[in-house]
Amino acid sequence: MFAASRIASVASKRAFSTSAANLSKVAVLGAAGGIGQPLSLLMKQNPHVTELSLYDIVNTPGVAADISHINTNSTVKGYTAENDGLKSALEGAHVVIIPAGVPRKPGMTRDDLFNTNASIVRDLAEASAKYCPDAHFLIISNPVNSTVPIFAETLKKAGVFNPKKLYGVTTLDVVRASRFVAEVKGKDPKDCKVTVVGGHSGVTIVPLLSQTGESFTKEQLDALTHRIQFGGDEVVQAKNGTGSATLSMAFAGARFASSVLDATVGGKKGVVEPSFVQSDLFKDQGVEYFSSNIELGPNGVEKINGLGEISDYEKELISKAVPELKKNITKGNSFVQ
Ligand code: NAI
Repeated sequence: MFAASRIASVASKRAFSTSAANLSKVAVLGAAGGIGQPLSLLMKQNPHVTELSLYDIVNTPGVAADISHINTNSTVKGYTAENDGLKSALEGAHVVIIPAGVPRKPGMTRDDLFNTNASIVRDLAEASAKYCPDAHFLIISNPVNSTVPIFAETLKKAGVFNPKKLYGVTTLDVVRASRFVAEVKGKDPKDCKVTVVGGHSGVTIVPLLSQTGESFTKEQLDALTHRIQFGGDEVVQAKNGTGSATLSMAFAGARFASSVLDATVGGKKGVVEPSFVQSDLFKDQGVEYFSSNIELGPNGVEKINGLGEISDYEKELISKAVPELKKNITKGNSFVQ
């Protein structure tokens, strides 16, 4: 009897210490939006999440009440700007995912969103610097090529910037690339891994199709490259003025956030995802941030992988991406400075 209860007590202590070590509050800012809602739903299913903190300027009480009924082991709270909601949403957060801001309408580029989204992202960065400076920040709001520098510069101003914990979410480009290549090759997308590097808009999106192990005709290369770079436009046009990718983006965002949680609280090794991060890869050409595969560890970005061997076709794409990236990054930096 004594032995049995002792075993039970040790077991419960172990269970307690495991869950205490894995405490992870995840905040979603812009949680009531087209991306925010399905992304929050997917994060509610992640076993590493202990508390889901949903912030938006509108409608979060309803979204939070709805998601909170799902019977997974995390609590859900909804906040608006009232009663210092942003402070409560951010305090103690381990991961902050940011899809706040306006999406594109037909005919718009991501850069056209700059005027509205730049100040939203800067304000959220200021609050993050104050209330959860040690969190991992995942930026979805477009234009990512500029919003990541805006977030970084704002954290720098507050003296709390950690480049290992700031990520521009470019996962959707890789998700799309895999799907599109699989369609052309008649394969299962899980067997079609495509590395995509550069940034997250038009010509800055550079798929490295030569590394897929597949062969393509010049026509296929041109068509696939264009579709991967401008795939977002297909959704914007199909939605006909009501927004851009939300469901596939939520899927991609949840995949990236789950990888960050796997590496930072789950103790998983060898987690590799693409992300737009502060990077030395093209620093000599004046490009401070670049997306490539990164290895995630307990403290965030552990290693930034280089591009490996690339074809002349891809070198040409990179040469078009670099000046555009430089322009987008400078625009973000100047906005804060
Ligand atoms: P949406 O308009 O449906 O939702 C945006 C949400 O942000 C709204 O609920 C709005 O109330 C909220 N919001 C606005 N200002 C806020 C503030 N100051 N604080 C908190 N929340 C605020 O837009 P959607 O479709 O969810 O897109 C969000 C962003 O994600 C857009 O900038 C879009 O371009 C971007 N996006 C990024 C992708 C990527 O691959 N990184 C892919 C697709 C979209």
